[in-house]
Amino acid sequence: MLSWDDFDEKEKITEQSIAKEVLKKEDGLTAAKPSDKEEMQTSTEVPDLDSLDLEAGLADLEGASARVDVSEKKMINSRADVNQLVPFKYDWAWQKYLDGSANHWMPQEINMTADVALWKDKNGLTEDERRIVMRNLGFFSTADSLVANNIVLSVYKHITNPECRQYLLRQALEEAIHTHAYQYVIESLGMDEGEIFNMYKEIPSVAKKAAWALPFTQSLSDQSFETGTVENDKILLRNLIAFYCVLEGIFFYCGFTQILSMGNRNKMTGTAEQFQYILRDESMHVNFGIDMINQIKLENPHLWDEEMQKQAETMILQGTQLEIEYAQDTMPKGILGMNSEMMAEYLHFIANRRLTQIGLNEAFPNASNPFPWMSEIMDLRKEKNFFETRVIEYQTGGALNWD
Ligand SMILES: [Fe+2]
Ligand SMILES: [Fe+2]
Repeated sequence: MLSWDDFDEKEKITEQSIAKEVLKKEDGLTAAKPSDKEEMQTSTEVPDLDSLDLEAGLADLEGASARVDVSEKKMINSRADVNQLVPFKYDWAWQKYLDGSANHWMPQEINMTADVALWKDKNGLTEDERRIVMRNLGFFSTADSLVANNIVLSVYKHITNPECRQYLLRQALEEAIHTHAYQYVIESLGMDEGEIFNMYKEIPSVAKKAAWALPFTQSLSDQSFETGTVENDKILLRNLIAFYCVLEGIFFYCGFTQILSMGNRNKMTGTAEQFQYILRDESMHVNFGIDMINQIKLENPHLWDEEMQKQAETMILQGTQLEIEYAQDTMPKGILGMNSEMMAEYLHFIANRRLTQIGLNEAFPNASNPFPWMSEIMDLRKEKNFFETRVIEYQTGGALNWD
């Protein structure tokens, strides 16, 4: 795994070593072990209806088969039946599921005609602007898949209450929609798909972010991994911090700001609109993840010891440093009313927010927000101007109140 020291000695991380690291970890993530295959084969027998053993069958269900007592529900290591959504205990998770569902959207509803014309016009965008579009599509097109795979293959099984699982299912769908959106933009603009989809292995500033996140999902995706020990519960908690506070909570922010700034200047407006919808979803993902982390801490205070707090802080600082490097790579000079120094300031501001959201101290006491318009886009109550039409169209349950 990469350590903090690695980031002080940039020479240690070469393009090739990162590419190898990413490939190695991907193999570990997807390869089924022989023992898994054997187990799968034994479960293919068809049961005989006349000799169904109801009691034994229900006992095999995850959690107890008795009626659920709300006090038995827990974030992790719960013995309560995860198949019974009610009685509710984690209302915040259910509410986020309702809010996310009320914001449903699809990429092909956004008109890309102006983007196609601008992209194909040789004088339409500068080289620096083109680099920003390409790099961000390269990063996001695979990063959202990493997040989706982390939810489905690593996290879902270990979160043991149905309210959070309901939101995780919603989030997994939204990640699929985001990947769809990037593919839709890449296809509409006629980009080289091989070049874009391989950036996370070939472009160091993109690859480093993927290589940083992968170890946190790898150990959990092992079929034999189980929570229930302090050590393993901490592995799960570290995964949640890595994916919600850093990957979705920091690694997305330079790219979002750059593309939305382009849209603010009336360039690549269809792409920018896609990113606006994605940003709205992502800010809810981050808030949900932080609620999960804090609830796990509340229910398991022994996990949040000095060591864990130090690790969490280090992870957030590492993520901030990698995102600043990404800003420098994607913006070698000032562009779209911003530069990498302003972005570093913004990322310090975001890092402070992530640290305090999980109960840690700010690391950059004087950091301010040079892009206040980004906060306005993320603030649901102020989003009306951007999303009014779509929200009204998808509003089926009256779950969002704009007043
Ligand atoms: Fe996403
Ligand atoms: Fe997300």
